[in-house]
Amino acid sequence: MDDLRDRLESMDDLGRWVDTKVRKEEQENEASLRPVHFEDYIGQDAVKENLKIFIAAAKKRGEPLDHALFYGPPGLGKTTIAGIIAHEMNVNIKITTGPAIEKPGDMAAILNNLSPGDILFIDEIHRLNRQVEEILYPAMEDFAIDIMIGKGPAARSIRLDLPRFTLIGATTRAGALSAPLRDRFGMNHHMEYYKPEELAQIVKNSAAKLKIDIDEEGALEIARRSRGTPRLANRFLKRVRDFAEVRFDGRIDLETARYALNQLNVDPNGLDTMDQKMLTAMMDLFGGGPVGLETLAASIGEDSGTIEDVCEPYLMQCGFIQRTPRGRVVTPYCLTYFHRDVPDVNGQLKL
Ligand SMILES: Nc1ncnc2c1ncn2[C@@H]1O[C@H](COP(=O)(O)OP(=O)(O)O)[C@@H](O)[C@H]1O
Ligand SMILES: [Mg+2]
Repeated sequence: MDDLRDRLESMDDLGRWVDTKVRKEEQENEASLRPVHFEDYIGQDAVKENLKIFIAAAKKRGEPLDHALFYGPPGLGKTTIAGIIAHEMNVNIKITTGPAIEKPGDMAAILNNLSPGDILFIDEIHRLNRQVEEILYPAMEDFAIDIMIGKGPAARSIRLDLPRFTLIGATTRAGALSAPLRDRFGMNHHMEYYKPEELAQIVKNSAAKLKIDIDEEGALEIARRSRGTPRLANRFLKRVRDFAEVRFDGRIDLETARYALNQLNVDPNGLDTMDQKMLTAMMDLFGGGPVGLETLAASIGEDSGTIEDVCEPYLMQCGFIQRTPRGRVVTPYCLTYFHRDVPDVNGQLKL
């Protein structure tokens, strides 16, 4: 058991690629790689096609777009598509995040400063606190806010009209959004993980912008290991370039991509050390599960939010784990993948 704990401990953070945050050095780079037009926004065809219709209809009527909610794991292009919508509608976009708006007064001030047609983008909208959220209800519905003037018996509420605006919300967890807020969005868009071919296209487009020499096979290898996520694909592209320049002749092909990603501890399915740590704990510490989220998080010293938002959705999509009412369990596929013994249907180990 101690040996196992040591093993989990020693899976260091070097190969930890998956996280919820945008890294500092990445911020400027992301801006330069971020598509501004629908044509450069690869994949998410269903979302894109619908949006194009809604945008055209709103423009035709000369009205702002209806409020829109985007949900899906980090790095799938929610912020990017909000920017594209603003560009297509030819309006300004103000960007803020749920946790940054602490008081109802802050929210009132933000809303009051909008111009007609503006887009207000609230990232991590599920993290707005309740009082702040309540300001949004009349703002979204009637384009007005109610503010209290004075204190005690003399206090009265006055209604302030707002310009017609569009709220775009982004969240990694649709389930965490309160029902009244969710219901006030005119459209809900679910972002899907990208297919390897789509990610390969994104990698090639980014490589062209960054003047990196890459071939088809190299792009596809990076794509396959990027767990369906454009942000990761772009991140890996830059790291693989480093290896290509120092260890090889600067060009990224299959061999370079494989070598570099192996060095970075990203396995052929895109699992990084954090996923491996989590699955190892589930298999060897909890007998394959079921195990609860908090217990699992505590046992590997990770934040339960990161596990829930980032690791799990991908591991479930790939068939490594399943969620049951009693907790998470690993699948036979996962056991085979990690060379563990797979129990037969009667629960007996096949030896
Ligand atoms: N559909 C896409 N096509 C091309 N690049 C994309 C696409 N979606 C995301 N990206 C790239 O991935 C990065 C992260 O996307 P972002 O919109 O910030 O994700 P999210 O807001 O969902 O976390 C962007 O900077 C952009 O370069
Ligand atoms: Mg974002």
